[in-house]
Amino acid sequence: MSFDAHYISEKVFQPSLPFKENAVVNTDDLYQEADQDRMEFWNKQAQKLEWIKPWEATCEWNKPFAKWFVNGKLNASVNCIDRHLETKKDKIALQWEGENGLERNITYKELSQHVNQLSNVLRNQLSVKKGDRVTLYMPLIPELVFAVLACARIGAIHSVVFGGFSAESLKDRVQDSDSKLVITADGGSRRGKILNLKNIVDEALDNNEHHVENVLVVKHAHNDCHWEEGRDVDYQTSMEKESAECKAEVMDSEDPLFILYTSGTTGKPKGILHTTGGYLTHATYSTKVVFDLKDDDVYWCTADIGWITGHTYLTYGPLSNGATVFMYEGTPDYPDQGIFWKLIEKYKISIMYTAPTAIRSFMKWGDHIPAKYDLSSLRLLGSVGEPINPEAWTWYYTHIGNNNCPIVDTWWQTETGGIMISTLPGLHNMKPGYAGKPLPGISADICDHKDASVQKGGGLLSLTEPWPSMARGIWGDNERFKEVYWSQLDSYFTGDGAIRDKDGYIMVLGRVDDVINIAGHRIGTMEVESSLVDCDKVAEAAVVGVQDEIKGQALLAFVILKKDTVETDELKYELKQFVSKKISPIAKPKFIVFTEDLPKTRSGKIMRRLLKAIALNQEVGDTTSLANPGIVSELRERFKKEKKESIPQI
Ligand code: WTA
Repeated sequence: MSFDAHYISEKVFQPSLPFKENAVVNTDDLYQEADQDRMEFWNKQAQKLEWIKPWEATCEWNKPFAKWFVNGKLNASVNCIDRHLETKKDKIALQWEGENGLERNITYKELSQHVNQLSNVLRNQLSVKKGDRVTLYMPLIPELVFAVLACARIGAIHSVVFGGFSAESLKDRVQDSDSKLVITADGGSRRGKILNLKNIVDEALDNNEHHVENVLVVKHAHNDCHWEEGRDVDYQTSMEKESAECKAEVMDSEDPLFILYTSGTTGKPKGILHTTGGYLTHATYSTKVVFDLKDDDVYWCTADIGWITGHTYLTYGPLSNGATVFMYEGTPDYPDQGIFWKLIEKYKISIMYTAPTAIRSFMKWGDHIPAKYDLSSLRLLGSVGEPINPEAWTWYYTHIGNNNCPIVDTWWQTETGGIMISTLPGLHNMKPGYAGKPLPGISADICDHKDASVQKGGGLLSLTEPWPSMARGIWGDNERFKEVYWSQLDSYFTGDGAIRDKDGYIMVLGRVDDVINIAGHRIGTMEVESSLVDCDKVAEAAVVGVQDEIKGQALLAFVILKKDTVETDELKYELKQFVSKKISPIAKPKFIVFTEDLPKTRSGKIMRRLLKAIALNQEVGDTTSLANPGIVSELRERFKKEKKESIPQI
């Protein structure tokens, strides 16, 4: 990969004086503290949580495995709920709206009741114990937050699987985590239709390769679904039997809190493991300083809890800070393209955290849509998931923020647990396209392939010192953890390329490995390739990323069909549906190019570098090692034709 910036930003934006004056952070004291004594800095952050027993050592670093707040004891759900009850019991913790306009307001006291009751259901009726894994496959409803926190309360390890994943993807994740229980809902709303989640769970469990004993079902959409006597349990009736008091499990700081699956460069998704004390410390601290969170904010993170952003910045971070969190079960374009702005006006949302892909869609739909609503409650905007191009940044700043709300462009990953690079909104100027600097307590560097720090130009983004919320491993596969993240550089390798400017601001350029970022979601090309070759008509497939105006990137699949299979448009459609069904609609290739050959070396290895160059319409460079040099121009032609003919997908 070349490390040229996609765009160089010329403009610098400043937070307003009143914003600066009232900001949680408006001096560089935190940076100084962290620079002087990083461990003491993290001790101070951890002390803001409620501990049952204090820790004995801040960090034990046995590369690549860290232990933070060693031998400290705490419970994450107590930190997100119980400790607020004295002062905030009547404050709204969750404000929820469904696609059909249904509303729910849940105070901290009510949150406590729901979570305690559910914890009792899990413990008493479903025999879930500390250390057991529980898969959550649910729509974005308050019960998903309850379920996450109930698992945390009794020490069960939650594994949330995004409701858009297919039965097969769910099955893989249930099996890999060896879950004892699945919590789901009858259905979820999606653009006026109901997605029958329970059916997908049934399909995923229709085999003998798992140890799931029960499926707890929330009746949410009230659609019909199959009921398996003896296995399926009704959420509501089970809740009614339980009291609203459940003693929280005493958790070691290093006890696992959750597993979250994410795509990697091999065919199999990785279960990223996070533990309790360090994760919660960073979630709490980073939410406070990056989002400038105050007691009267109404905070909206538009991510689903199926992704890490929804774990850290919809659930643990804001609730641990005692904030009011808004959540919406729906998409930005239904019932119309103004719904997000309508919600901001209605709920007087003050902080909005969303993804560049959504912002680019809003831009395309037109300025006149947000202009119809009163967005004056907003005071801070956030972006996450992929690089934000200055055009989208400026649109967000002008049309949503009314030139008056700082934007935090937050860089981080499932593996980092929380935000690593961002500006602090009351302290720093903003440069569109640049995420900013490593947060106080975080150390990042840009290295060349030989691990030397690069001062000028681009390189590989690495994190050079351990941090509290770092992944503790890949569930069941620590060798892979070492190999993927810790074998290329001396420190943690992020998989991203980046450049740094003279002020130390970092611009993240995107992945340098075979992971594609589609609308902020990570998809491994190998995963899509292996699902394509599972189709009995496909002999071979190679998948690469192409640029996409709205989604950032999209997938291009080069497919060699089996002998005597005819290349038709119907087959292209069929293959796209096949991948969608196997993995998720997110992973569906945008373009399929049939070919009889792929660029291969004489030893038969596919030269992916050439496929990437074709996809991005770049020069291919040296092709002398190719067994079939003519294939490059042929594939270029075929891709050009495919682009012309393909019907745009929404
Ligand atoms: C990309 C999402 C540029 C990056 C929190 C990273 C970003 C991957 C940004 C992690 C950003 C995330 N600017 N790129 N502000 N935020 N990324 O695990 O490539 O779903 O490695 O975590 O998203 O995706 P993940």
